[in-house]
Amino acid sequence: MAKRNVVVIGTQWGDEGKGKVVDWIAPQVSAVARFQGGHNAGHTLVINGQKTVLRLLPSGILHPHVTCYIGNGVVVAPDALQIEMRELEARSVDVKGRLKISAACPVVMPYHVALDQARESKRGASKIGTTGRGIGPTYEDKVARRGIRIADLLAPDTLSDKIIDVIDYHNFVLTNYLGATMVDPSLVIELALSWGEFLRPMVTDVSAELNQICAEGRGVLFEGAQGSLLDIDHGTYPFVTSSNCLAGQASAGTGVGPKSVNYVLGIAKAYTTRVGSGPFPTELTDTVGAAIAKRGNEFGSVTGRARRCGWLDVPALKRAVEINGVDSLAIMKLDVLDGFEEVKICVGYTIGTTLLDRLPIGAEEVARCVPAYETLPGWASPTQGVRTFDGLPKEAREFLGQVQKLVGVPISMVSTGAERDDTILLMSPVNY
Ligand code: GDP
Ligand code: IMO
Ligand code: MG
Repeated sequence: MAKRNVVVIGTQWGDEGKGKVVDWIAPQVSAVARFQGGHNAGHTLVINGQKTVLRLLPSGILHPHVTCYIGNGVVVAPDALQIEMRELEARSVDVKGRLKISAACPVVMPYHVALDQARESKRGASKIGTTGRGIGPTYEDKVARRGIRIADLLAPDTLSDKIIDVIDYHNFVLTNYLGATMVDPSLVIELALSWGEFLRPMVTDVSAELNQICAEGRGVLFEGAQGSLLDIDHGTYPFVTSSNCLAGQASAGTGVGPKSVNYVLGIAKAYTTRVGSGPFPTELTDTVGAAIAKRGNEFGSVTGRARRCGWLDVPALKRAVEINGVDSLAIMKLDVLDGFEEVKICVGYTIGTTLLDRLPIGAEEVARCVPAYETLPGWASPTQGVRTFDGLPKEAREFLGQVQKLVGVPISMVSTGAERDDTILLMSPVNY
């Protein structure tokens, strides 16, 4: 029976648990493909207590039969990829034979990292709080049509001139505007040539291969990074990342037609977190927020920064459901709410006398939102590690029921622990 091609996206501000879900679904498909973002992502898998944090590698990599693709929409830092591959290969995971990368991927170059970090320090208190990985400047160069793509790394004859030109341009800004040090083109050229040789065996026509897998009905899982509220267009701009993180990007970011993406699985925590700056209506700066952070171990998997925590935000989820066309939700980290006497759900906002049932567009409006809450009873017995829906305490089931009702889409999966199998399936996204 043909399988559905599913896209997994974050419905909040990232770190919802996308990696865990992709790893869990991956045995049912032939391919897992990343379509945007870069090594700003940190996707965590926990299998029999062993933790793996993936940045660029798709989260199907621990399943030997799955081919992993990095689509053209991803910005690739070859040095970060090399480190990640070595880590897994040291654990006897075959990566090289199963990883395929598009020649059209923009390359994250050393001057992108320098620009990202110098800009953030110049911004001071109004900084975005980026991961400092050079992601924004790499996407800027792509759109400005001066980017170095993987295809360029494979053409040594023309590579040097391209790098000299672009560094000349960026050095002007780095030194004259940002007060940072110049980047030396000769070092970058040497590095870039070695990256080309490292990447060459993995470079593939990703679009053609994924279209073939779709045509044969063998199942492709598209793995989103970041989250809908960090989307460059629909998120809390300017406190966003520099790519489209929505389901629609799965198509443009890999080169398959939109009709090949059959199902949108939205990932949401049972509460909300955000790392970096920017407005966050349901943020809790009190002991409850600190308790969620502690229980949920809310520290960034890439930068180690503390994540800001707050209650579940339904108007934000409703926005995410619409802009992605979410078919069903996976509710993650339900266990983190264990032991609270009561739990809250934000059901709307007010700005002055105006009532809102959707997250507004852009940071300024979002910053003015005052959340209105519904309070539900907490649950006395733990959900942690519970693997059947009926095994969940009644109040936890009622909480999930209320979320489903308020957001207006079904819940297909519930996660009760970081471990791969602490997962409850209510409805299969892949199989009809
Ligand atoms: P991603 O970026 O969306 O893949 O999410 P991250 O991996 O950055 O963050 C999610 C964190 O929560 C990771 O440390 C996971 O191991 C952990 N996690 C995932 N699901 C659950 C869950 O149901 N319960 C608990 N306690 N932890 C979870
Ligand atoms: P995953 O895939 C959470 C945030 C940064 C910052 C903003 C811009 O693990 O969910 P960038 O370096 O992208 O220019 O930073 O976006 N950010 C993330 N937050 N999870 C992520 O990825 C993120 N990737 C970027 O903290 O606020
Ligand atoms: Mg993450």
